[in-house]
Amino acid sequence: MAELIERPRPPLQRGAGERAERLWTRSVVAGIVALLGVIAFTSARLGLHPPSRVETIASTSLHKGGEFSEANLGTSILSDGSAVVRVVAQQYAFVPNCVLVPAGVPIAMRLASADAVHGFLIDGTNVNAMIVPGYVTTVRTTFQETGERLMPCHEFCGVGHQAMWAHVRIVDAKKFPFEQARAKAVSCAG
Ligand code: CUA
Repeated sequence: MAELIERPRPPLQRGAGERAERLWTRSVVAGIVALLGVIAFTSARLGLHPPSRVETIASTSLHKGGEFSEANLGTSILSDGSAVVRVVAQQYAFVPNCVLVPAGVPIAMRLASADAVHGFLIDGTNVNAMIVPGYVTTVRTTFQETGERLMPCHEFCGVGHQAMWAHVRIVDAKKFPFEQARAKAVSCAG
């Protein structure tokens, strides 16, 4: 019967506990604000952004024609002077395996996978995305400096994954074959 006897309650402990709780809430809010700040900074200043709008494609019939047919792979110059680079990712290579682009020209890179999920990045740039079967991945960039950059697959795609990579050769705009690229896609693949 002892539990039925009402005992005097201890006075409510305010103070220490409440202060700790408030400190915790403030630090969590500060952390969230800091992370949102990092997202805003990297997207505004460094041009990091998620891939473009969702665009679908039939991955198993890329070779049968259309945008990603063999003749279209590589760099093409459009009528407005901008460049489009089309690359197919497949186990275990990028086609073409050497991408030729002019420096200082806005470039839209469009990639499609013929089989598994692949990834690609171009070292030293903001280009970093995944290539998912059934979708076209579009990444926009402008290469400011000439030189050779590596473009490895960074998504495990099978036993040959570690051997899957391409070169990106960025040449001075004066040395880029614009006329040729207006008629047919060019690349530096051997
Ligand atoms: Cu393709 Cu890893």
